[in-house]
Order: sequence, then C-alpha cells, then structure tokens
Amino acid sequence: MKLFSLRPLSRIFIALFCTALLAAGIAEAAPAPIVITGADRRPAISLDGEWGSIVDPYFSGLFSFHHQEKSNGWFLNQKAKPGDPFPTEYDFSTAPKLRVPSDWNTQRESLLFYEGPVWYERDFTYQPKQHTRIFLHIGAANYRSWFWVNGQKVCEHEGGYTSFNCDVTAQVRSGSNFVVAAVDNTRHEDGVPTLETDWWNYGGLHRSVSLIEVPEAFIDQYDVHLSRGAGSVIEGWVHVEGAQSGAKVEVEIPELKAKATAEADKTGHFLFHIKVEDLERWSPESPKLYKLILRAGEDSIEDTIGFRTIETRGTQILLNGKPIFLRGVSVHAEAPYRTGRANTDKDAETLLGWAKELGCNFVRLAHYPHDESMLRAADRMGVLVWSENPVYWALQFDNPKVLVKAEQQLDEEIGTSRNHAAIILWSMANETPSNEARTNFIETLAGRARALDPTRLITAALLVRAEGHTKIVDDALGKALDVIGVNEYIGWYEQHPESADITEWRIDYQKPLIVSEFGGGAKAGLHGGDNDRWTEEYQANIYRHQFGMLNRIPQLRGMSPWVLMDFRSPNRPLAGIQDEFNRKGLISEQGQKKQAFFVLQKAYKEKTVGRPE
Ligand code: GCU
Repeated sequence: MKLFSLRPLSRIFIALFCTALLAAGIAEAAPAPIVITGADRRPAISLDGEWGSIVDPYFSGLFSFHHQEKSNGWFLNQKAKPGDPFPTEYDFSTAPKLRVPSDWNTQRESLLFYEGPVWYERDFTYQPKQHTRIFLHIGAANYRSWFWVNGQKVCEHEGGYTSFNCDVTAQVRSGSNFVVAAVDNTRHEDGVPTLETDWWNYGGLHRSVSLIEVPEAFIDQYDVHLSRGAGSVIEGWVHVEGAQSGAKVEVEIPELKAKATAEADKTGHFLFHIKVEDLERWSPESPKLYKLILRAGEDSIEDTIGFRTIETRGTQILLNGKPIFLRGVSVHAEAPYRTGRANTDKDAETLLGWAKELGCNFVRLAHYPHDESMLRAADRMGVLVWSENPVYWALQFDNPKVLVKAEQQLDEEIGTSRNHAAIILWSMANETPSNEARTNFIETLAGRARALDPTRLITAALLVRAEGHTKIVDDALGKALDVIGVNEYIGWYEQHPESADITEWRIDYQKPLIVSEFGGGAKAGLHGGDNDRWTEEYQANIYRHQFGMLNRIPQLRGMSPWVLMDFRSPNRPLAGIQDEFNRKGLISEQGQKKQAFFVLQKAYKEKTVGRPE
C-alpha cells in the first residue's frame, strides 16, 4: 500500500488512533534497559521465588486474533468481576507457579522441550522514597522478554545471557504493586545465537530478579584496574548517571590506604589514577581481593576486586608480567546434579571446584556470558576466565540488525562484568564460517570490545582446516585477535585417537594459541576397549594421544578441553547413551568422574602438557 497517497483527513485519524494506542499503554516504546556495573552489589529487594505463570504458545496474552498487540493484554493482570461484559480467561493468582531464578524446562516435565512465550506475574509491596530512582534488575531472561509494572510497559529486551535494568520509578506506587513479564525463548534466524546450538534452549527468568534503589544521580558504570605500566598504578573511570556539573567522585581502597577524588570529563566519566604501595597482585595462586568503595554525591557502592595485568608478548601470555600456561577446561552453565541453568554460588563452587581438582588455573565459560555468581566465585577461587559472546556458528553475518544485537550483548557483558580480575579474555565468537561477511562482523565486534575495555585480550574459537595430517590455522579472523582459539576433534569427529600422534600444525600467526576444544563422548560407567566408542576407555585414549600433539605446537599457551560436565543438548538423542545429553563431559551431570578426568588431572598436576614459554 502506497502510504504517501493518504488524504489529510485520514492522516488526522491515524494521529488520533496512535495517541489512543499510546494512552492505552501498548505499542509504547518503553525506554531501553540500561547496564549497571556491580548491580549485584547494591542493596536490593529480591523478587525471586514463586511467580504465577501461564504458558502461552500462541502469545494470545499479547496479540489479538488478527495479530495486533492487545490494549488489554495479560500485562494488565486483570481480575474477572461479576457482571463483566466479557470473559477474563486468565488469572495469575490461580495459575501454576514457576520458580525464579530458574529455567522453566526443568521445572515441569511438560515444559522440557517447550519453546515459546511464557507469562510470569508477581505481586510486591513498596514504599517509594524521595529523590530515589527504582530499577527492575533482571539477571537474565532467555531469549526475548517484555516487562510491565502495574500494567505499564517498562522495557523489553533481546538476548538470553546478560543482565539489564529497567527504570520503574514512574510506575511503582505506594503499597501493593505487581510486575508482569513475558519471556519467549523461540529461536530466530536473525537471533544471537541463531537457530542451531549444541546446548538446551533453556527458557525463562533464569537469573535473579530484584528491585534496586539508587539516588537520582548514581554510579551506573565503573572500571577499576591495575595499569599495565611499571609500578602499581590503579586507574579507571566512574560514570555517574544524572551527575550535576562540578560533582566529584571518591575512589577508596582502604586496605591500600589509597584514596582519590576524581574530576568529571566532558562525557560524565570521572577518570582517576592512584599510585599504590605494597599491592598484592591477584593470581590463581593468590586470588587476593580488595574492598573498593566508590562515592558520588548521595550514592556509594562497595565492591571486592582483584588487581592483575594481562597482556601478550609475541606468542606468550603474560599474567602480572610473567609467562603463563592456561591449564583449562570448557564449562557450560548447566547445573550439576539438578541440571537446568546454573545460577547459584553453590553451582559455581561445585563446577569450579571440579576444575581446580583437575589442576586447572583457567576455564572457558562457553558459549555465552555466565552468571555473576560464577564470575565472583572465579575471582575468589583464583580461576582465570575466558568469557564469550554468543556469536555461535552461522549467524546472519550480513544482516546489520544482527550486528546491533551482538554489539548490545557485548556492551552488556563487558559493562556488567568488567571488574572481575578472573576474566582475562573476551571471546567474540565460536566456530563461525570463514567468509568476508563473518570476518567483517567479528572484526567490528573486536574493535568495539577493545574500545570498551583495552585492559584485556580479545580471542575467538576458530575452525581449522586440514591438508592430510597437517592442521592449518589461517582463518583471516586471526588478524583481529590477540590470542587465537582453535577447536579440533581428532579421534572423535575425524580420524582416530592415535591420529594425533602424526598430526602437525601450521599456524600462520605469531600469536599465543589456545586449543579451546578437543575431546570425545563417553557414557559414565560404560567400559570397554580403547577403541570402543562411548566407553570411558575410548575418551581417555583420545586425551592421552592429544597431549603429545599439543606439546609439539610451539605457541600453545593454553587448552580448554570440551567439556567439564555432560550437559543437555537437543542434538544428542542416542538412547541409553546420550538421552539428550552431550556426553563429552569429564564428569557426568550426576558427578561421576570418568577415566579421562584422571588422565587430564595427572597431566595438569605433573605439568606434562603445555609450556608458558
Ligand atoms: C563444537 C561446539 C560445541 C559443541 C561441541 C560438540 O565444537 O563448539 O558447542 O558442543 O563441538 O560437538 O560436542
């Protein structure tokens, strides 16, 4: 239909209609959610617990039978009243409950495979305070989500693994309130990730939800790190949302008797440099954390962070100026024992505890940003971290809208987690097809990551090609990376375990290399010969043959075999063996350690695989 041919009268009619829509609270463009650094450090009113829930495969709670957004959608949380001239066909107060934080798939048998919209509702009481802004903090919601408070839309979001915050100051009232969320984990071709993943598409409010109160001018983001230069200079910036001109920010690290007052630059960032004495640098051997206090006007926040430097020198990775070898393992955010999304301190301590038992000083958190509880545990337990943006397999790399989504998720990942000493690598992608659109897409992301955070290293997990028994690392994307990650499955998806003995590597980059994935599947407790697939012996045999090959790669500076623990995956239906689990874990999801666990543990404890220089 040619819009430009509309007569004046119909234009007035449309304007009136739009005003009516806006007044009715739908189609209103809610303000974009914001990123808040250290949100989990702020005093908060938790909204975790049981929420009323309605599974809505046709999204009829939001869309009419002609697929138009409803004005009286379920976000109004209406209650049927005697004499109503219309039926109210939903009631959150009598609806079944879903726990938050948790995926919905592992809460009800009927929802295990469910992909689609689910509604959540929760009542809460609140007393608004003067000069106070209130944010609805969402730890994460997979995949698309919409939020209303007291029937008014407050925000919407796309991306399943990063936290975001919606300003609800104008919507919250004194006394009883309610929040309604619609979460839809439907996969989309133009999504990030896209249609295919080798992990379960757990849906829902799978990380904590709370209300955060802050003064009108408050610290929304901050960056505090140890400068790479000589001596010990702690530097960074603080951004104060709503800062009055002439405002000052105070940065204090009491244990170091370090204090500085920062002045604002024109972008509202307060920059600071503090020379400190007797700093104990953070490292896996001594994960020293310091209390940090930031004050800005009425606002203050306390955090605990470590100070370390990370950089490369030729093919070496230097932690605190010293060459290091990253003895790692890859980890999915699958909860041990109960399965489903990992989201508690206990989940994190169990998973990282197993990694440390293996002799690891490093984990690759795949393939999406993990929960703050995991990152805080890594800081405490002294485990270095590879954190990854879910640019996984074949996204629509030539679609500019998809780039915007990936950039938004990267901004949220880095904005939220930038002060974790444990994180040393930002990974831009995993196993993406080598073509120009892809390379341009990820080079743009890498440039953005470097601008956002010049203190860490940029990497990605690349596919490698082969000529005979030579593995060749010449993916053009390598140019944009500080550290090259490569995935290979010699002995599982290709060739035999012993083929590693005769495999050589040609690496076209004089950069540190991490073998970010290798391994094979084994059903815990299934035994047989070294060449009997799915047995523990076969998996262990793969590992034994890998070590010799890895030691022949001169610039190998780390490894993160696939994978610490078996995890649910929709691509793994082999009955009696996989049962919808990827069985490449060194430990089953029920905590059974497989033979390969001990093969790798021995190599790490005796440091017989890998060299820091
Ligand atoms: C890929 C991919 C993983 C996947 C693994 C596997 O390399 O990166 O996400 O789970 O291989 O096939 O087990």
